[in-house]
Amino acid sequence: MANADIKLKIPSAVFYIDPVRAFIGNLAKNLGFSRKRVADIQLVIDEICSNAVHHGSIDATVGVELQIRSSAHALEILVRDTGSRHKGKKNWLTHERLSEIETNRSPSNEGGHGIFIAKSLSDTYKMEINATGGTDVRVVFQLLKPADTKP
Ligand SMILES: Nc1ncnc2c1ncn2[C@@H]1O[C@H](COP(=O)(O)OP(=O)(O)OP(=O)(O)O)[C@@H](O)[C@H]1O
Ligand SMILES: [Mg+2]
Repeated sequence: MANADIKLKIPSAVFYIDPVRAFIGNLAKNLGFSRKRVADIQLVIDEICSNAVHHGSIDATVGVELQIRSSAHALEILVRDTGSRHKGKKNWLTHERLSEIETNRSPSNEGGHGIFIAKSLSDTYKMEINATGGTDVRVVFQLLKPADTKP
């Protein structure tokens, strides 16, 4: 029952992030993640989806896609956007910008906490430019350690 492939597509609008957060939170809880891990997973998804909406979408109609894979050992989530290069060069994620963002962001910076939080709280965090010129963010949460599971 724990093995599942789930696909969701939401409009690129903040309004839809909360329902996604609730769905993933319930799924993680039912998979056996502890309450703290569920909250961490929800926070990470919130940050990644916010980025997909704010930085990776031209407008609300393009949508953000989520591919969720659950197993007895892990919860894996891919968040895919289509990019916002038409909004201006600043928001267009190039390979150079990607490495700049990944190395320069830290808690001491005023903005730019999203990626830092997502990287810190997930077991695997991978950010890639996809075929549409948008961004694919893949995070994995392992369910291996007894401390992570529900009492
Ligand atoms: N999906 C994305 N598409 C394009 N650029 C992105 C995407 N996600 C992040 N970025 C770029 O990476 C930068 C850092 O993202 P991060 O979430 O760490 O900070 P932020 O969104 O700017 O601010 P915060 O999340 O703290 O409100 C963003 O400002 C944006 O330029
Ligand atoms: Mg952000």
